[in-house]
Amino acid sequence: MQQDKFIWRHKDLLDVDQLTKEEVFFLLDTAASLHEVNLRPVKKAPVLKGKSIILFFAEDSTRTKTSFDIAGKRLSADTFALGRSGSSMQKGESLKDTALTLEAMHPDVIVIRHNCSGAAQFLAERLNCGVVNAGDGWHAHPTQALLDAFTLRRHWGDAFEGKTVLIVGDCAHSRVCRSNVKLLTMLGANVRLCAPRTLLPAGVDSWPVEVYSDLNKALPGVDIVMCLRLQLERMQAGLLPDMREYSARYCLTPAHLALANPGTKVMHPGPIMRGNDVSAALADSPDSLILTQVESGVAVRMAVLFLLATRTDAGGR
Ligand code: CP
Repeated sequence: MQQDKFIWRHKDLLDVDQLTKEEVFFLLDTAASLHEVNLRPVKKAPVLKGKSIILFFAEDSTRTKTSFDIAGKRLSADTFALGRSGSSMQKGESLKDTALTLEAMHPDVIVIRHNCSGAAQFLAERLNCGVVNAGDGWHAHPTQALLDAFTLRRHWGDAFEGKTVLIVGDCAHSRVCRSNVKLLTMLGANVRLCAPRTLLPAGVDSWPVEVYSDLNKALPGVDIVMCLRLQLERMQAGLLPDMREYSARYCLTPAHLALANPGTKVMHPGPIMRGNDVSAALADSPDSLILTQVESGVAVRMAVLFLLATRTDAGGR
């Protein structure tokens, strides 16, 4: 652990664009050194002993919630999980009062997932403890983008410059897409988005990306394809008139991958919808990095919890 050489100044992690490139690589280096704990027979290190972490997930999650919980426990922190169901938010308590109540119990870090964009920032501005955004509405999912970068680094090393990443699917409603566009471009990769016009983000023409609606035209020259799920829970009626036509045009198959550069791999933040956004044949093939992403998620979340819970107060957000 090289923390003595680098002062981590952030109280919170709200999105990747608050970090410098140097901070991103420091966080990924920290994750790489902590990942070794996950491979031991006894998966425990004492570095967060005595620290308390609250996992406040007001929206469903499998990967993010479990990996933050495992990450905290592997570093010997005490973790406490709370959902919207089972909390007093069900009785009408506001987000602000819920957060102040949780902070009164003196946690070191609160990890929050919420369906409203800006919920994590709202808490970060009001609480003295660290706040981690585990996904807020359409806005941001910084630990997903960081674990994707960690996965790509295991695949490519540090050679992001000149690589091309294609993100396919429901970009409009995807916080993963937004955080990944910011982080991948910061690290020097070219980013392409491919979706029907109705599933491209508003204002995409001013984003630093190339935009496609035809998947066959988007694939030549690509080094990684990231597939996205249709976020039906956030979607207005009418954006997608025919699901079967969508799948026929945008569900990634081995034949599609053959149009990309040799060695191109497929990624997906999950949950995957087999046959809708990625074919079963591809999801289960050696060309898939999907479960490597899940494995990377534990290491990256260990690093995030470690850096936030052990930082000395330097006044930064
Ligand atoms: N990628 C991701 O955020 O997955 P979960 O919704 O299962 O946490």
